[in-house]
Amino acid sequence: MSDISNVSTVSGPSAGPPQASPNPLVGREVPSKRARVQAITSGKGGVGKTFLAANLAAALAKRGRRVLVLDADLGLANLDVVLNLFPKVTLHDVFTGKVQLEDAILHAPGGFSVLLAGSGLVEYSRLTPEVREQLLRIIETLAPRFDHILLDTGAGISDVVLYAVSLADDVIVLATPEPTSMTDAYATIKVLATQQRRHAIQLVVNQVGRIGEGRTIRGQLQLVVDKFVTPTLPEGSPAPALELIGEVPLDAGVREAVQQRRLLIELQPGSAPAQAIHAIAAKIAP
Ligand SMILES: Nc1ncnc2c1ncn2[C@@H]1O[C@H](COP(=O)(O)OP(=O)(O)OP(=O)(O)O)[C@@H](O)[C@H]1O
Ligand SMILES: [Mg+2]
Repeated sequence: MSDISNVSTVSGPSAGPPQASPNPLVGREVPSKRARVQAITSGKGGVGKTFLAANLAAALAKRGRRVLVLDADLGLANLDVVLNLFPKVTLHDVFTGKVQLEDAILHAPGGFSVLLAGSGLVEYSRLTPEVREQLLRIIETLAPRFDHILLDTGAGISDVVLYAVSLADDVIVLATPEPTSMTDAYATIKVLATQQRRHAIQLVVNQVGRIGEGRTIRGQLQLVVDKFVTPTLPEGSPAPALELIGEVPLDAGVREAVQQRRLLIELQPGSAPAQAIHAIAAKIAP
């Protein structure tokens, strides 16, 4: 089985010979050989991970990227609800060998692909060897066909969530300005730094009351990380650094879009949160 951690060695401007076939994705700077796998996670639940995953995927698709969102919230999936999809086949069928992986990949409104988990699959809320192997296999199989694979994880630091995150090249931690969300985000960041030895962690602050609040929150989280996490790492380890990649305003339009089961960036493309998501996409896929 190939090692997913070697992604950075095979992608990038100098990797491999030029592609023989013309690149259909006009405007892309460098055709990468395999997807960048990006996990969207949070400590606290209900902070907007699924909303962000779906809308960010659509925003990346608008930039010409081939995007797959994998609903990695295996026990309590709800990406299908946000996207108004009624899947006949889900990851469950792939896991059990009932269908081929290809047949479980659906087209979502917004121009990207999804692999849905289906809700209530309690057997997948535990990290069994089967879940580990299947998730790894699926990502390995699909990585060459996409530019971005977004993993919409469940909340918290359960072993399923941490395993899904461990498969990602980049981790995007989502937090809100609420104190409970911040302490839970801190707990997540601490585990990522100590257990997964992540030293670059991306942060999106959702539901901000004003632009600039995200920067303050990043600063506060970085301070506690510097004080309580960095000193516990083995000597010589790089200090974990939080990079703020976006702040998304609290806006009634988000709730409206979710209720209508539409993408915000399609329903209210000019709204402040839609613009904020486009800005994140531009940062991730310049
Ligand atoms: N920027 C925002 N402004 C207003 N409401 C928001 C915003 N972001 C999220 N919400 C609200 O929060 C709700 C929960 O969002 P979502 O389902 O994406 O959270 P989640 O983190 O995926 O939850 P879970 O942990 O259960 O998977 C949305 O239905 C929406 O009503
Ligand atoms: Mg969710």
